[in-house]
Amino acid sequence: MAPALEFESLTKEYRSFPRRRLRALDDFSLRVEAGEIFGFLGPNGAGKSTAIHLAMGFMRATSGGGHMLGKPFGDAHARRRVGFLAENVALYHRRAERLVRFYGALNGMGGSYLAKRARDILAAVGLQDQSKRNVGKFSRGMLQRVGLAQALVNDPELLILDEPTSALDPLARVTVRELLLQAREAGKTIFLSSHLLSEVELVCDRVAVLHRGKLVRLGRTQDLLQSTERVEIVARGIAPDAFPEAVARGGLVSFVVPTHTQRAVLERVWSLGGEVVSVNPVRRSLEELFLEVTAGSRSVGEGGAP
Ligand SMILES: Nc1ncnc2c1ncn2[C@@H]1O[C@H](COP(=O)(O)OP(=O)(O)OP(=O)(O)O)[C@@H](O)[C@H]1O
Ligand SMILES: [Mg+2]
Repeated sequence: MAPALEFESLTKEYRSFPRRRLRALDDFSLRVEAGEIFGFLGPNGAGKSTAIHLAMGFMRATSGGGHMLGKPFGDAHARRRVGFLAENVALYHRRAERLVRFYGALNGMGGSYLAKRARDILAAVGLQDQSKRNVGKFSRGMLQRVGLAQALVNDPELLILDEPTSALDPLARVTVRELLLQAREAGKTIFLSSHLLSEVELVCDRVAVLHRGKLVRLGRTQDLLQSTERVEIVARGIAPDAFPEAVARGGLVSFVVPTHTQRAVLERVWSLGGEVVSVNPVRRSLEELFLEVTAGSRSVGEGGAP
């Protein structure tokens, strides 16, 4: 099956100061498969929005290219099958319902089907009571919800969302998480950039970490979070002070040791007359992984080509 989105050796340089160029993306390649929820992570200025804007055809790459739904970046037909939410939602000052209908019409929709779809999608993002209000008066979170509604109105095959939940309250985040999972259930592909790592951990099948324009980590979320370096051992029948930093709870003693010492530690438990209840690899958080792969970061915006 063709990938839903493919970045192929993409390099983008912005002109900054006279005779200076800033390399925002550096030979960046990535394949997003159809039907997955893909998390696109990276510190501020890593190049995430740049990659997304290139995929949407808003600007040209310095070199390299890519495909979206099987068509080269910028293809107008492929664009109609995509829902896009920008990181800074900028919308015409219209009533919410009219605005969402307007975006549906841009994608070739119309008539009573579009009217119903606009109402339904506004209800799905929790704006049913605000649909007649002008979005010019909306709060940041409400704007982000309208932005999501316009991205979803055409029932897109591929959703590209640049920080879709940054302004949302906790309740709305749950709603959006459910919308994303439903979309995947319906066979859609979702590519989202986010700084909310705990949310990414909950919904994304795979994640990529971009750092200074380069891909520095890629993998299944589950695999990346499984640390092979440490294991948690739970035992019974030993004193809690037998191992450093051991925690006693309900007759059990648990502690974490480096994987390479596991064998010796288990033998020690047995030699103390204890019984091993479980040995499990320690799961780290996405936040730990993120800090690890982006360690030694220079300040935001640095890292360009001279
Ligand atoms: N239009 C532009 N002109 C010049 N430089 C730009 C432009 N857009 C982005 N950049 C620079 O390119 C680099 C990458 O920016 P980009 O917006 O892609 O990062 P990002 O990963 O989306 O960051 P954030 O998490 O803050 O949204 C930054 O150094 C930024 O200053
Ligand atoms: Mg960005």
